[in-house]
Parts: sequence; C-alpha cells; structure tokens
Amino acid sequence: MADRSPTSRLVDMLAGRPPGPRSLGAQVQRARTYPPVHPKGWYQVARVADLDRGEVVPVRLLGEEVALFRTASGAIHALDGYCPHMGTHLASGGTVEGECLQCPFHGWTFDGQGAVRDVPYQDLTPRICARTWPVCVAYGLVFLWHGPVDDDGRPPYTPDFWPELDTDRFVLRGRYAPRDIGMHLSEFAENAVDVAHFPKLHGRMHIPWTRWHVPGMSVFHVADWKVDEQHPFLSHFLNDATLGFRGKELPQTGAHADATFVGPASVVMFRLTVRDLGDVMIAQTHTPLEAPGDPLRLRVRFTWWSERRMSRFFTHYIVGNWVSQWWQDVGIWENKVRLEKPKVVGGDGPVNKLRAWYGQFYEGVESP
Ligand code: FES
Ligand SMILES: [Fe+2]
Repeated sequence: MADRSPTSRLVDMLAGRPPGPRSLGAQVQRARTYPPVHPKGWYQVARVADLDRGEVVPVRLLGEEVALFRTASGAIHALDGYCPHMGTHLASGGTVEGECLQCPFHGWTFDGQGAVRDVPYQDLTPRICARTWPVCVAYGLVFLWHGPVDDDGRPPYTPDFWPELDTDRFVLRGRYAPRDIGMHLSEFAENAVDVAHFPKLHGRMHIPWTRWHVPGMSVFHVADWKVDEQHPFLSHFLNDATLGFRGKELPQTGAHADATFVGPASVVMFRLTVRDLGDVMIAQTHTPLEAPGDPLRLRVRFTWWSERRMSRFFTHYIVGNWVSQWWQDVGIWENKVRLEKPKVVGGDGPVNKLRAWYGQFYEGVESP
C-alpha cells in the first residue's frame, strides 16, 4: 500500500479535496485529546487478490509490523513481523514453505499458529511461538483482529455479516484508495449521530467524486442511529436522503442508507437502496497505522458491489456521491480535536450516548 502517485495528487487537487492536516506538530497535539487509536476490532490490511499463494507481505497495523502470508493451500496467516529468535523481519526475505513461513536469517520455520516447526541446525525444536493475529477473509478482503480472544484463540465475532456479497446476486464493481487521512476513527462513528452538521456540511449536492457543487441542487436528510438489538457491538446509521431543486424537495429521488458499524467503525458496511433499481453495498474500512510521529494516520479503503441488474455506471455515480460527502467531513476531521465535555445543546444528536456505546471497544485492550 504505497504512497500516492503524482497523478492521484493531481486528481485530488482538481476534485477540490482537502490537502491534509495542517502540520505534523498539530497532529501530535490533536492526538493527545483522543483515546488510544487502537480500540478492539477487525481491521482490513489487504485484499486477497494482492496475495498470491506462496507470498509473504509486510503490513503495518496499530504501530505493529505484521508478516502476512498465504500458504500453498491458500490459507492466510498473520505473524508478528519480527522473528522471536533474533528479531529479523519475516516479510523481508522470508519465504513460504508449504504451509509455513521460513525466516531468512537462520531458517527457522513457523506454522500459521506461530509454532516453530523446524530449526535447520538442530534436532530439538524449541517450544517458542511467534505472536499471531487472528485472520478473517470475507468479501475478498483480509481482516486482522486486535483485542482479547477466548481460550482457543478465537475473537468474540467475525466481520462476515453479509454473505450475499459472495453470491451471484452481487457483482464487485470497484474500489477506491484515497490518501491516508489524519483522524481518529471514533470521529467517523460520532459523525453519524451529529445530525446538526448535516444541513451545513451535507446539504448540497456535489458532482460525484468531487467537492464541486451542482448549482441549485440540495440534499435533505432524515437520519437515525441505533444499537443493533442482537449484537451490541454493531450499530446502525440510517439515513433517508432526498434531492431538492432550489429548496424544493423532489420526493421521487429518494435513496435509503443503512450503514452498519462493525465494532469501533473499523469496518462500516453501507447498504444504499435506490428505489426500483436495487442495492449498492460499500465496505468502508478504517485502519489506524499509528505511524511514528504521525499518530492519527488512518488508512481508509472503499470497496463496492451492486446488484447484477444495476449498471456499473450508475453504481459508480451512487458511490461517488457518498465519497464526495465523505471528503466534506475529512476537511473537518483532519483539523479538529476531541472535547472531553462538548457543549451539546438540544438540537444536537446523541453524541454522549454514542460515546458511552463506543467505550466498550476499549474494554480489555491494553493501552500503550
Ligand atoms: S532471526 Fe529468525 S531464525 Fe534467527
Ligand atoms: Fe458528516
């Protein structure tokens, strides 16, 4: 996941997208106002298509180095990036041997559970384990779990709630990799209940994928947020959006959004239903990198599907509308702080209720 190309930067500039946080110094100061950047949850680190059988790649997550590898049988495992023997980076020259990963320095071999399977220069295999990360593959994406696990090493849930995406009904239509964003992922969740910013920030229609307004066109929102009744670690942001022209609503233009926050909004799945045309699904994932000197650096990835009967072009149009609105928020998120006691007034949404719900994602995880 390399830095942006000059072409991507030019596209961002032409589309009017915000250039990024004002300074790294401000980022460090802003970070102090937030809780740690690593609540417990599932984090996307790769796409399955990026990882061939027999390949190992380095990924960065929450300030940690991880060696992600795919075995000969196709299984995907994640080990701590640094070999427990003498600290060599396992993804820098390491090789996949069958179902195991071999360190490039002394040739120790580790299986997917981190156990040492072979030391080439002695018969005795030490009972040493490399640290592992639970992996889940869903929708062609690879997720790692950060947080407590049960006695069998299993996380409390997996993020694969939408099996229909792996059926014939839906077709993968595209993906989008914006530049890294300087924000804490809790802001994304908080934004959903902050209904008072909708008219000001999201009340105008944009040319899809850009921040340029369409003259005369407005967007009206009716939004709600609720915790999932079956799974308390899920919540739903519901929004009915209607277009307007010169301030008058055009009721026949309505679209309904149900965005499910999986855990701390590290994974968010949007279901956008357009009347008579079908559903578009967007997986928006947030992965804090916790880069040195850049504590709020967040990697955001969009992947989307639509029902087979909906055209690729129209899907792209719908997703582009959402991405335009998302960039509107980015311009705010990248320069704001978190107030411990915001001065919430009657017309604001349930910000404190959201914060109370969000607190569960810090239970049982270590602080740095
Ligand atoms: S450092 Fe990895 S085998 Fe020695
Ligand atoms: Fe917003």
